[in-house]
Amino acid sequence: MAAAAGPLDGVVPDVERHVLEPILADIERLKRERNAVVLAHNYVTPDVFHGAADLRGDSLQLAKMGAETDADVIVMAGVHFMAETAKILSPEKTVLIPDLRAGCSLAESITGDDVRRLREQHPGVPVATYVNTSAEVKAASDITCTSSNAVRIVESLGVDRVLFLPDRYLASWVATQTDVEVIAWDGACEVHERFSGEQLAGLREDDPDLVIIAHPECPPDVLEEADVVGSTSHMTWWLAEHKPRRVVLVTECSMADNVAQESPETQFVRPCNMCPHMKRTTVQNIRTALETMTHEVLVDERVAADARRALDAMLAVG
Ligand code: 13P
Ligand code: SF4
Repeated sequence: MAAAAGPLDGVVPDVERHVLEPILADIERLKRERNAVVLAHNYVTPDVFHGAADLRGDSLQLAKMGAETDADVIVMAGVHFMAETAKILSPEKTVLIPDLRAGCSLAESITGDDVRRLREQHPGVPVATYVNTSAEVKAASDITCTSSNAVRIVESLGVDRVLFLPDRYLASWVATQTDVEVIAWDGACEVHERFSGEQLAGLREDDPDLVIIAHPECPPDVLEEADVVGSTSHMTWWLAEHKPRRVVLVTECSMADNVAQESPETQFVRPCNMCPHMKRTTVQNIRTALETMTHEVLVDERVAADARRALDAMLAVG
């Protein structure tokens, strides 16, 4: 009789699968004992994404799923701001992050004091803030957004000018999609800022049929070369809908690895860039997090209340 298919069949080589499967079995047992769920961003490694995660998605989907789950414990397979967002939206739940060092260059580029100073410089201009920020920065903002809903959020404010923080490239892309004047901050994603339009033009010259899908955290010359611009969930949707022959996903490397299984007809062409923070989560440290209930993510109650107002304003727009 053939062995039952496991979540890692065809995802990792057999030799790795035999090492990982007992760890995944421990994780499943611990999830039942703790009434826990593992939420995974599209950029975590395939063994975590396909093997350990219960719920998967982009930043917006993770925020919504974290708020809706009735589990007592959320393990965030992603980065710190995602775990903070889950805690802010579900203060009664225990939120764990397997490695506290999983940060984000965008979140580190701005503080709450920076936002307050910008407000003084631009009185009356509302602040729309990317979720890739600390709770303190969200708390100083009017509304948050993700790359899935950034344009919708900016337009929902019904104003002529908006402060859009902290990613200067996402801000400049949003500015091309709306008549609202966008005032940007100087942050950037250390992964997406490394791509160049020249690099992509070279790839297209070699293969004129190549479809280029880029994340809006990329610089403008990259987005000008792209056929499609969108968040990680938009990339997944577009691939399922259009089934391209050859594609380059101009984003974090695990994105292509994680969608490859559902896109057997598509060849994924590199380059890609690795996010060191997203690689901090492993199946081993997810197991440890559930065994030891560490590292718990806590947010100061007053900061959380203000940050929640900005997150709820985003969720009301959708
Ligand atoms: P999305 O998954 O929302 O597109 O975000 C990408 C990202 O860089 C998250 O850190
Ligand atoms: Fe932050 Fe960029 Fe890594 Fe996303 S990919 S966590 S934006 S550094």
